[in-house]
This record gives sequence, structure tokens and C-alpha cells, in this order.
Amino acid sequence: MRNPQLNRNGGLQHLLTIDGLPPEILTAILDTAAPFTEVAEREVKKLPLLRGKSVFNLFFESSTRTRTTFEIAAKRLSADVINLNISTSSTSKGETLLDTVDNLSAMQADMFVVRHASSGAPFLIAQHLAAMGLEHIHVINAGDGRHAHPTQGLLDMYTIRHYKQSFANLVVAIVGDVLHSRVARSQIHALIALGVPEVRVIGPKTLIPTDVDKLGVRVFHDMRAGLRDVDVVMMLRLQNERMQGALLPSPQEFFKYYGLTADKLECARPDAIVMHPGPMNRGVEIDSAVADGPHAVILPQVTFGIAVRMAVMSMLAGG
Ligand code: CP
Repeated sequence: MRNPQLNRNGGLQHLLTIDGLPPEILTAILDTAAPFTEVAEREVKKLPLLRGKSVFNLFFESSTRTRTTFEIAAKRLSADVINLNISTSSTSKGETLLDTVDNLSAMQADMFVVRHASSGAPFLIAQHLAAMGLEHIHVINAGDGRHAHPTQGLLDMYTIRHYKQSFANLVVAIVGDVLHSRVARSQIHALIALGVPEVRVIGPKTLIPTDVDKLGVRVFHDMRAGLRDVDVVMMLRLQNERMQGALLPSPQEFFKYYGLTADKLECARPDAIVMHPGPMNRGVEIDSAVADGPHAVILPQVTFGIAVRMAVMSMLAGG
């Protein structure tokens, strides 16, 4: 069966998940993003690649970084951007997701950027568009439930390549609430596809999926052991909104064992970089001294996110 994200020529049709995407496509996205960093950093103002195209931002869950950087990226590519206000849209009156999509398609949408609390919602939209013969409309997953956040995974890969030049020989640790994290899943698939030889996940047993080692990662429950000699530390947010039951004794206890402090960071390599997808819970996942310290590349991640999202949108609809 053809990968639903790829068109008949093997190019990107939608971006729904990193799982199953050929490494050549991941690398092509990172390579395409590189010159766009000048636009992201405002050295070059705008490019006409999406002129005349309409990008609809459909965010059914809250967002600061993803929604805003998608909007900036689309505008810098000269697209028309429509941000649907979900709280005042007809979905809040009971309209189905697909009826909303049909109506926006009738307004000549070219691209839907979708964030949804339900895993699979962007897949459902892509499948529906195909069934309706609307293959010219592209879907980008901006985060669905616990499943995937592919542009976050890609901007994280861009950041690692920027600071470390290559994925070969790296040891990368992903720390915290892996169980509920769509970001972690996208990071793991991307790191392994791009050839990182050692990917570790670190967290309490209650927040690490039981079969995560089948993805090709090493599991650590002791943070200092897991951070030993790593090149990249990728912190995760505690996804309290997705937790059911008591998975943590308290935020203070989580910070004691799994919060990134300067002291624990000393276990990593001296030139290790520290990443976080945001929003950060200071004093729970990460100490302010680290978040604002010399190893942190958390704000550059956000700027690179504009370039990576420009790259994805231009590869999908830029001709
Ligand atoms: N990293 C991330 O998805 O952040 P937002 O929720 O602010 O979009």
C-alpha cells in the first residue's frame, strides 16, 4: 500500500507523522529549511512561493509556538493565512470535524494545518480529502493527541544538525514524560531514521511506555546514568492534561529525580546542548539556571521552527 503521506511520484503529499517517511525526505526538508533561516531571522523579508495559496490553521488545542510559527512561515511564503477561531467556530455548535473541513474546502483552501486532541484526526482529514477527490489540498499535522508532532521533531533535528553538524556518533537522551508525548515519538522516529547511533529515554517507570525499547531506544530510570556522556539532552513537558490517575508523587519529587539541574547536566558531555519543545515548566522539568544557561538552545529551536515549517509548506504546495 502506498504511504498516504506521499504522492505517486514519491514526493510529500501530506505531513502526518515521521514514522515511515524515507530518510531522504527528512534530509530534504532539513536541507530546504537551511536557506529559509535567513527569512526566519528577517534578513530576507518574503518569498513568493505560496502566493495565491490559502493556508487554514485549525488548532483545536491550545498552542503558542506551533500556531504562531506556522502563521509566520506561511506569511513569509506570501500565502493568505486564515486562523479559525475554534471556540467561535461551528464545531463548538456540534458540527463534525469533516463537515467543517468540507466547508473550508469549499472556500478554496490549499492547506490545513491541524492540531487536535484526538490521535489520528489529521489522518482522518487527509483520508477524507482523498475520498472527496480533493488531492490538491495538503494536510500538516501540528500535533495529534499522544501520536505525533512531526514539525516539532523536524525542527529538533534541524537544531541538532545546526549545533552538532552531523547525526553520526551522537548520543541523544530524551527525558521525562515519554508516555504521553507526541513530541518524543516524533523525535525517536526522526533520530533513528537519520542514523543517530544511540537514543536513550529517561524517566520514571510510570511515564515510559512498556514497549518503547522496540523503537530502538535504551531505557534509563536513573537520570544521572542516562545522561552519562550524552551530546544532546531533549527535555519533555509533563503532559498533565493527558495523565489519568496518579502517575507522579508530586511535581517536587519529579524535579528531584528527573528535573534537569546544572548538577545533573554535569554527567553529560561538556559541549552538550539542552533542548525543550516548550511550554516549559520551570522548577518541574528544568531548572531556570539550565533553561537560561549556556547549554540551552531552546529559543533558537523556536526560530528554526519557522524555517522548517516554511520548508514543509513549500515542499507540499510551492510547486
Ligand atoms: N512545542 C509546541 O508544540 O508548543 P506549543 O504547544 O506552544 O505549540
